[in-house]
Amino acid sequence: DLSQTFGELQGTGGETHQVAEGETAVLTTQQGVPVADDQNSLKQGARGPTLLEDIHFREKIFHFDHERIPERVVHARGYGAHGFFELTESLSDVTRADIFQRVGERTPAFVRFSTVAGSKGSFDLARDVRGFAVKLYTQEGNWDLVGNNIPVFFIQDAIKFPDLVHAAKPEPDRAFPQAQTAHDNFWDFISLTPESMHMVMWIMSDRTIPRSYRTMEGFGVHTFRLVDGAGKSTFVKFHWKPKQGLQSVVWNEAVKINGADPDFHRRDLWDAINGGDFPEWELGVQLFDQAFADSFDFDVLDSTKIIPEEVLPVRRVGRLVLDRVVDNFFAETEQVAFCTQNVVPGIDFTNDPLLQGRNFSYLDTQLKRLGSPNFTHIPINAPKCPVAHFQQDGHMAMTNPRGRVNYEPNSWGATIGGPREDPVRGFSSVAEEADGAKLRIRPESFADHYSQARQFFVSQDPIEQKHIGDALVFELSKVERPDIRSRMVSHLRNIDEGLAATVADGLALPELPEPAQAAVPTRTDLAP
Ligand code: HEM
Repeated sequence: DLSQTFGELQGTGGETHQVAEGETAVLTTQQGVPVADDQNSLKQGARGPTLLEDIHFREKIFHFDHERIPERVVHARGYGAHGFFELTESLSDVTRADIFQRVGERTPAFVRFSTVAGSKGSFDLARDVRGFAVKLYTQEGNWDLVGNNIPVFFIQDAIKFPDLVHAAKPEPDRAFPQAQTAHDNFWDFISLTPESMHMVMWIMSDRTIPRSYRTMEGFGVHTFRLVDGAGKSTFVKFHWKPKQGLQSVVWNEAVKINGADPDFHRRDLWDAINGGDFPEWELGVQLFDQAFADSFDFDVLDSTKIIPEEVLPVRRVGRLVLDRVVDNFFAETEQVAFCTQNVVPGIDFTNDPLLQGRNFSYLDTQLKRLGSPNFTHIPINAPKCPVAHFQQDGHMAMTNPRGRVNYEPNSWGATIGGPREDPVRGFSSVAEEADGAKLRIRPESFADHYSQARQFFVSQDPIEQKHIGDALVFELSKVERPDIRSRMVSHLRNIDEGLAATVADGLALPELPEPAQAAVPTRTDLAP
């Protein structure tokens, strides 16, 4: 009945009709057009078909249809918070990085903690590595320290990363197990990858079932460089030390918590920050030179190794405080893009082949995940210092160059000619000598896969060692193929005979396998 008024047609479903009045904002479309009715689509008659002409309905559904973006290919489940970094000890003797110059100065920070293997909707207390990614909005650009809560990694060369992640994620035919290391593919890959043994000791320890994000350490993992104004570089390993102490749950608790509250870690962080109990970490550095690096049998470019803190104590130079939750999870925590390639003048890379690969991977994946090369324009990713360049266009361009000039060199003069390079203040790479044949090779210095695994195991106290043994038995007991179980035990024999015997016993292996071949074939035979 066309004579029916809008008001008369309202409310027939019994809905509460809330209208803008007083200070309440008026609901609009994306175009800013005020909306009269958000409850009913436009129809031909009260019981007739919905009309294509309904601009509000079409826009609303169109936008909803496109709400999802791909989840991160790893570290999909995470939780972020804002805070600041405060320098407590100057590092101006070793780096020109602006963030390390003035004691007491604060730099805004955003941190995202994560699990690695599970999907975005998985549970918080999976036995897994935790990401500890920090974005520091320095006055000379964004520096991202994209670390983990474990100081070493599974593999030495980034070319193995897709295999590692495929093996760790749910198996492709059955699509399970979700967010667990307990399956054949994972242990098959691991047992065929002896370089992962040090990491395996850490992931089977209580480190991978932290009590809270607030009670985890963080590590930059790789050896990086600090660089002074004269271009002299000092090697550095970065550490985050929690003021809350290091705490884990035990496996039984983890299993129960996952069932009772899969959001345990995110709720804990949200509640702590909103309750004014701001979590805090100290930034520690291990600084060393080439001669010190050369004094080890292992290679400081090998991410499966640590530099023991007893040998080189960690110097505490600053503090990171998280004091503000996000306003919007998607805008901030989901859209934040950490890239290892984001370094600032005074910080540089080394030739660690894992780091070199990461420097490509993050930017590449984020283009797909966020959909535009302009993802640096999203507020959470935008630097908080002046930005001036001639990059332009692309999807969602927000900060195109103004005026006529979008190239350099140009002769338009200082006012309209735009920014110019600065050889003094600008980022420059350390002038490292590099020579040699082009080869696919793993150097001999990367070949010892067991010594540090053993050091880690023996450094644990008896109850922690028991937890490692229990975890190995539990995880490997889910592996169906006996040869994979046995192959794992053959590696454990190179780490600790007692541990190997315990695990073999727990798995009821018919016999103890021979120790794995300790000297891993490197492909030096291909060297000229
Ligand atoms: C994501 C750490 C190795 C590729 C992440 C995140 C962290 C992290 C913390 C989550 C970032 C966030 O919260 O948004 C590490 C560490 C590694 C390592 C510490 C080794 C030391 C690698 C390697 C590759 C890689 C070798 C590839 C060659 C990725 C990718 C993402 C990611 C593609 C998803 C990034 C995104 O979608 O934003 N990693 N990772 N990672 N990592 Fe790694």
